[in-house]
Amino acid sequence: MSRVICLALETSCDETAASVVAWESGKFHVLSSIISSQAQKHAVFGGVVPELASREHLPAMHPLCRTALEEAGLGLDDLDVVAATRGPGLAVALLMGHSFAKALAVAAGKPFLGVNHIEGHLLSPFLAAQAPSLSEVGEWLALVVSGGHTMILRATPSLACQRLATTRDDAAGEAFDKGAKILGLGYPGGPALEKAARGGDAKSVDFPRGMLHSPELDFSFSGLKTALKIYLSRHPSDPADARYRDICASYQQAILDPLVSKFRRAVRETGIRLLAVAGGVACNRALRAELEKMAQEEGATLLLAPPEYCTDNAAMIGAVASLRFSLGERSVLTEDIFPQYA
Ligand code: KG4
Ligand code: ZN
Repeated sequence: MSRVICLALETSCDETAASVVAWESGKFHVLSSIISSQAQKHAVFGGVVPELASREHLPAMHPLCRTALEEAGLGLDDLDVVAATRGPGLAVALLMGHSFAKALAVAAGKPFLGVNHIEGHLLSPFLAAQAPSLSEVGEWLALVVSGGHTMILRATPSLACQRLATTRDDAAGEAFDKGAKILGLGYPGGPALEKAARGGDAKSVDFPRGMLHSPELDFSFSGLKTALKIYLSRHPSDPADARYRDICASYQQAILDPLVSKFRRAVRETGIRLLAVAGGVACNRALRAELEKMAQEEGATLLLAPPEYCTDNAAMIGAVASLRFSLGERSVLTEDIFPQYA
């Protein structure tokens, strides 16, 4: 199929997003990408409240789809497929976009495709304007680091994936969020912690690096927040304290070290020299800089997802849908969501 145009919805967590993506000759073109974040609504609760997320998606979806089409300069008739995230994510949130997109597809007389959210993150580095065409790419090694997942995957342009590593407990983004909460920073914690850590001495506190020296490529971050709690109970600190910045930088470094080290090991073990990194934590500038350095040392090419496509967005969902649609895939209208990673 030479060209595919897709309208996609993403509602797996607390972002309502709609996007129109065109897929042509191995390249994705984002014609529009709109995100309506509910983060402030959840911030007062210190984390995402699933039912609130679900109810906030409902009034947002229709106007967002309308605006996404308008910005792309297209109408429903121009679409080849309507898509939405199928999972993993919060069930009550997924149901909103998945059901809305099905109804829209039926009303417009278009096919529907449900999309795996992780595959969305996996393709997001290819949304960058300077990214190579998928038709020129062989296998690549992906690091997906988000609030729900921490994975190293071996992937191909037909989206055949092999998972090489995952977290045994908390995700990297969760470690940022939980650490930020303990440190009295706001939600979402990742950006707040990154800001608080800037200029701090990352060697100041020796926090544990979960599974850093284990033979497996897997990750473990749950011990880190406990270590932070214990440290703060012995050395109370707040943002006014001169050492606060050092504690934040040290905590951040304890998340980054296993990510970079295990990804480097995966590069060496597989011999794959095309690397792609995505997911909300991939916004982190310290992580981006360390990955650039690692890729250079390993003689690898690194594709970092543009920051606007690192955190949850619908363009990455449209990318997967248009690619899978071009490969002949369609979903049935009785398709269910899948909240858990399968
Ligand atoms: O990919 P994403 O938007 O949602 C999931 O699929 O989970 O990722 C959200 C996660 C949150 O845990 C958030 O704190 C983290 O990404 N995050 C960051 C940064 N920006 C977002 N973590 C570290 N540094 C950042 N700058
Ligand atoms: Zn995500």
